[in-house]
Amino acid sequence: MLYSAICPAGLAGKKYPTGIMSGIQSSKRRQAFIETFGCQMNERDSEIMGQILHRSGYDLTPELEVADLVVVNTCSIRGKAEQKAMSLLGRLKHAKKKRPGLIIAVTGCVAQQEGAALRERMGHVNLVVGPQNIQRLPELIRQAEVNGSAIAVEQSPVFSLPSFLPELERGGPSHKRFVTIMQGCNNFCTYCVVPYTRGREVSRDPADILAEVHHLVARGVREITLLGQNVNSYGQDRREHDFPDFPGLLRRVAAEPGVLRLRFTTSNPKDLSPDLMRCFGELTNLCPHFHLPVQSGSDSVLRRMNRKYNRREYLEKVAGLRAARADIAITTDIIVGFPGESEADFEATMNLLEEVRYHGAFSFKYSDRPGTVSAGFDDKVEKVVKEARLARLQARQQEITMARHREYQGRVLEVMVEGESRDGAGQWSGRAASNQVVNFSAVEGRLAPGEMVKVIIEEACQNSLRGVLVKE
Ligand code: 5AD
Ligand code: SF4
Repeated sequence: MLYSAICPAGLAGKKYPTGIMSGIQSSKRRQAFIETFGCQMNERDSEIMGQILHRSGYDLTPELEVADLVVVNTCSIRGKAEQKAMSLLGRLKHAKKKRPGLIIAVTGCVAQQEGAALRERMGHVNLVVGPQNIQRLPELIRQAEVNGSAIAVEQSPVFSLPSFLPELERGGPSHKRFVTIMQGCNNFCTYCVVPYTRGREVSRDPADILAEVHHLVARGVREITLLGQNVNSYGQDRREHDFPDFPGLLRRVAAEPGVLRLRFTTSNPKDLSPDLMRCFGELTNLCPHFHLPVQSGSDSVLRRMNRKYNRREYLEKVAGLRAARADIAITTDIIVGFPGESEADFEATMNLLEEVRYHGAFSFKYSDRPGTVSAGFDDKVEKVVKEARLARLQARQQEITMARHREYQGRVLEVMVEGESRDGAGQWSGRAASNQVVNFSAVEGRLAPGEMVKVIIEEACQNSLRGVLVKE
């Protein structure tokens, strides 16, 4: 799964990036406000919805108060994520009272999960649209204008996002973009709601992916992140003899001229193949970062999570990746307090942190999700125990991350510029290939987002590295 590789927990509501907003506001065009919760998949879906809406007469606005249409793109991975979306929807009731013409659409995983029940519970919601139906948004809005509401949560056995349409690809960040390569998940980890909300794995045609990458690069995009819930099983649902597997697709995208950096997320360790490891030795533009969610260091917990690998196999994959690319940074996701997790199970997870020495970890308290297998397990771990375990794990991981960051001190890293930092003139921010945020000073001149510079690292911080631009 994919949620947190870039954005820790990824759950802060995000407005749509302003790049797509039209500068000239024609009086006929309407205003749409999109709020996004959850993973990068949702972020990309919001971008696509923005593009589709733009084509059908909406400009995107960051101001809720002036919107004719509000889209709440929801996440249901953990209880907390769902509550955030629900509380925004609750607040929207007042907006609707003031402006009865306002159309409120709920999309994403909560929409898929709840379907018509959501509309029954929240009468002010007009549209409930699952992730596989977002391309129908304009038609559904028209239905809602006539009938008051529309529900679209059918799941599709084929790739359901629009195939690449150049005229749709406008706006969005200029130097790095997400490209969706597959939808859904077949893994059925017992705690996870995603196979129910996002359906079965469906791989997108490679020609369509490459056309999108080609187009983005021609417009100046320099970093591409391939997205899917479990990208390692790309192509396994397709029988055509020339359909590539994931390493095959990576090689094709990496060969596209102008792709300076290539990333992907996310991976289930069980499907991490030796060939994918080889890609890290072969492809110079494939960034040395691997987000490899382990979830637990205990074999008995992994078994009950239905993860289909054990601790030894996981560690062998970590070793294989490091053998292929010595400077690779490995990050992970961990759940504490899974039903039945004993002190000894938790100690096994703590001990795994020492063994792997992750560059970073996103960790979560187990949360029961409706319809999942583990929601029915006995032996739930008490909240206070979960909290204490999470605090202990996070404190230790912070120390390890800090020690990892110190390893970069004195080294010169290649950094892709993101933009000026808030710290004042001459202060810039970017990202290392291994994915750390790098803040640096560059006294003279201006830098552009996407520019590659060299930075000597002088200081390790908890969430970033700090250094000085190296003149060439
Ligand atoms: N409870 C807690 N954490 C969960 N995750 C997924 N489902 C749950 C759940 N029910 C975590 C996993 C996953 C990350 C995105 O969210 O660690 O990798
Ligand atoms: Fe993304 Fe849906 Fe998973 Fe949330 S539940 S992280 S939105 S796939």
